Amino acid sequence: MKQRLITAIIGQFHRPHGAGGHLAGWIMAHRASNRRRNQWTVSLLDVRPTDHILEIGFGPGLAIAHLTRHATHGTIYGIDHSAVMLRHATRRNAAAIRAHRVTLRQATAEHPPAPGQPLDAIVTINTFGMWPNPTATLTHLRTLLKPGGRIAITSQPRTPGATPETSAQAARDITRHLTEAGYTHTRAETLDLTPPAVCVLAIRP
Ligand SMILES: C[S@@+](CC[C@H](N)C(=O)[O-])C[C@H]1O[C@@H](n2cnc3c(N)ncnc32)[C@H](O)[C@@H]1O
Repeated sequence: MKQRLITAIIGQFHRPHGAGGHLAGWIMAHRASNRRRNQWTVSLLDVRPTDHILEIGFGPGLAIAHLTRHATHGTIYGIDHSAVMLRHATRRNAAAIRAHRVTLRQATAEHPPAPGQPLDAIVTINTFGMWPNPTATLTHLRTLLKPGGRIAITSQPRTPGATPETSAQAARDITRHLTEAGYTHTRAETLDLTPPAVCVLAIRP
């Protein structure tokens, strides 16, 4: 019974749905560590005013909002496979959507809709561990980037008992998948949370 409840709660963060999904979205939007992790990741991406950027798994849309503050003359695309998260992120970014600066869609990382133009950057925060075929997905995403385009993948392990070593291992795993998928110049950054969040950045050559 307890295990079924834990599985159901975890599932709400993998693919929020129904009333529990709305609650998960509210928690993600208000939890201090989640807010810091989103802001930190966007700060690492070195966004330029004219950048066109895709976020995968935007959840309640915190990073989308940060991105619009930096890419003032670019376009922000976002996809998430949860209809509930699409509603939350749409509400949070309504003005930028009306201004055609943000386009959000319900879609998967594995089958993203083609963005309107080649991308300067792709970002994803606490979704990578949920992707069924990370190397294949990263290989396809690479084709959406301009040469020299950046990718940032952030992960803060949420498994019970996770330690700094769990985070370091996550960074090594992400780096390996990025390298196998043809990205270069990988580097890992760490945010001092409990456990630490790691962000691995890389370039499409
Ligand atoms: C733990 S939440 C993180 C949300 C947001 N990135 C944040 O940090 O606040 C994971 C999000 O990724 C989405 N997601 C997970 N796997 C996905 C996939 N394969 N394709 C698209 N979205 C996915 C979920 O629906 C959920 O909104």
